[in-house]
Amino acid sequence: MFGYLSALPSDPILGLLAKYRNDENPNKIDLGVGVYKDESGITPILDCVKAAENFRFTNEETKVYIGPTGSPLFNDEMTKLIFAEHKVISEHRVRTVSTPGGTGALRVAAEFLSSCKPGATIWVSDPTWANHTGLFTAAGLTVKTYPYYDYENKSLKFAEMMAALANVGKDDIVLLHACCHNPSGMDLNQQQWQQVVALAVENKFTPFIDMAYQGFGDGLDEDAYGVRLMAENVEEMVLASSCSKNFGLYRERIGACSIIGKDVASADIANSVLLSVVRGIYSMPPAHGAAIVETILSSDELRQQWFAELTVMRNRINGNRKLLVDNLISQGVSRDFGFINTQKGMFSFLGISPEQVQQLQDDYSIYMVDSSRMSIAGISDDNVEYLAQSIAKIL
Ligand code: LMR
Repeated sequence: MFGYLSALPSDPILGLLAKYRNDENPNKIDLGVGVYKDESGITPILDCVKAAENFRFTNEETKVYIGPTGSPLFNDEMTKLIFAEHKVISEHRVRTVSTPGGTGALRVAAEFLSSCKPGATIWVSDPTWANHTGLFTAAGLTVKTYPYYDYENKSLKFAEMMAALANVGKDDIVLLHACCHNPSGMDLNQQQWQQVVALAVENKFTPFIDMAYQGFGDGLDEDAYGVRLMAENVEEMVLASSCSKNFGLYRERIGACSIIGKDVASADIANSVLLSVVRGIYSMPPAHGAAIVETILSSDELRQQWFAELTVMRNRINGNRKLLVDNLISQGVSRDFGFINTQKGMFSFLGISPEQVQQLQDDYSIYMVDSSRMSIAGISDDNVEYLAQSIAKIL
């Protein structure tokens, strides 16, 4: 049976991790996979997470099955974190299930949408997260793209995006990034969100929002602006969220999938289908990550601690953006990289060719995705000069 297979290339993002680990150059820099790193290059366990784990260790009473929805407390706390005091909560129109990471949420949501309309078309931004297309195709959706990032001008192709979305009909789905667009770092501003929401209302396409970085852009509420506005105005919507980055829980695999129905009855019907999708893929989600997050979010003290730790992570990434731009200027680079300062979240494109990306890897042990997407958290005071010098050389 296995003889029918041919080998596939390694994942464009995760494949870099192995290469980086095997590189013996002491100056190597990892700007590949999107994980937060502190100044010493470590991805730390947050103090609030440690405290929550200690609490669970002494207080957990059973390991019995939890069911396809996962922990009700986690689901409620996540719903409030995402939507705040929103009418979709008071109107009982939103249903949230715990999922194995944000990717699990995306896959469950995609399978759910495939159950609504087999083979439905989903429109994704050009570019989008490298895993979106494969994941949606595997769930049976048809993937098409709308214009988004202007590589030449390092800006948003907003007029082209709106023109493309104007032709999207009521049986189609449109995937939007809530904040910290992966891979470009180029987000919609509030006025642009208002226009996209108006179009969704008019054309009745189904918005599907991926929120993997709440709190990494401008703040927890600011980053949820588009999500909350969309939910305020449309009848139906799907949302995938992740606790990998903002709680630093990467390997625990915890995220959430939320669906909003037009009324209580239709939300209940949709939820029954969602639960059957979950049962058919992994039966029920792992509990540990959800237990950590619900312990933090339901404790005033741990929640405050989490806000503070999240703020440190966000500020460090924003500081790194300026650090890189300033160092490129100090190295005498004449090309304008100022756009890196205005983009949001973990990523920006450096804007060099795949050959130059390869050269940075081969000659300087600097790792980034082929598209020149950099994970900004990998920059530090210690490596920025070497990074800027190396970029200057390959330019
Ligand atoms: C990334 O884009 O680097 C992260 O979301 C990690 C991943 O799974 O690709």
